[in-house]
Amino acid sequence: MLDRAEDRITADGRQIGGVMLDLKNITLRFGGVTAIKDISFDIRQGEIRAIIGPNGAGKSSMLNVISGFYVPQQGEVWFRGEKRGPIKPYQVARQGVARTFQNIALFDGMSVLDNIMTGRLTHMRAGMLAQAIWLGPAEREEIENREKVERIIDFLEIQNIRKTPVGRLPYGLKKRVELARALAAEPQLLLLDEPMAGMNVEEKEDMSRFVLDVNDEFGTTIALIEHDMGVVMDLSDRVVVMDYGRKIGDGTPDEVRNNQEVIDAYLGVAHD
Ligand SMILES: Nc1ncnc2c1ncn2[C@@H]1O[C@H](COP(=O)(O)OP(=O)(O)OP(=O)(O)O)[C@@H](O)[C@H]1O
Ligand SMILES: [Mg+2]
Repeated sequence: MLDRAEDRITADGRQIGGVMLDLKNITLRFGGVTAIKDISFDIRQGEIRAIIGPNGAGKSSMLNVISGFYVPQQGEVWFRGEKRGPIKPYQVARQGVARTFQNIALFDGMSVLDNIMTGRLTHMRAGMLAQAIWLGPAEREEIENREKVERIIDFLEIQNIRKTPVGRLPYGLKKRVELARALAAEPQLLLLDEPMAGMNVEEKEDMSRFVLDVNDEFGTTIALIEHDMGVVMDLSDRVVVMDYGRKIGDGTPDEVRNNQEVIDAYLGVAHD
């Protein structure tokens, strides 16, 4: 059960609820490399939680733990009040966790619309065979899926490219299509790995607005890795700071900005 007793309202009027995801003492190793060292933090219902830190700090590894792609050697993952057992990424997806990738992972030859439709896969009940031989329910499901996808296309303002093969799109729009695909899964928890990396100022502003709108309009909880501190400060409710696999800061953007260890390890130096 979510701990509703701790609900609070943010300065801009959004409601933050109890703990949705609780990571307890997570340690993740790759052979001799310890990517995550005994890190604990939580993500609350409805919040935008940023994860920041220098290159190689373990940020993407942490998102991969949350999405079930990596299984930590130590520690516990609690999602919506239940301790996660042995579980596959597709099962985590079915529980309502969707993500975008640091390196865009779309099907270049497929249209924007079809790429976004792949985000509906976790919701599809009728299989391919059913679609082929038993059109009734499958057809209804297809129509329902298309309607949901069209709403997301409108929401992200990409109607004009819906038939365009993704391979032909500029980088900034590909990132937006990836967000659309993740949203098509109707996630409760959305994991964004550097959604604004490599974007120009205008593209970053657009993406920031969409992230805020998703959080606001769908109530989606968001974990966000981002190097642009201006974006992090503007968007996030709370920030976790990682450095060499350790957690060196955790708090509101203001608390983190004034944390000397964070300044020394990260904020004092330039990042891409
Ligand atoms: N699949 C893997 N196999 C071996 N080592 C890995 C693997 N994934 C990550 N690592 C190592 O774990 C450490 C953390 O990497 P990670 O990608 O999580 O960092 P990051 O904070 O996302 O960095 P960046 O800002 O560059 O994306 C690095 O030393 C990296 O080389
Ligand atoms: Mg990374």
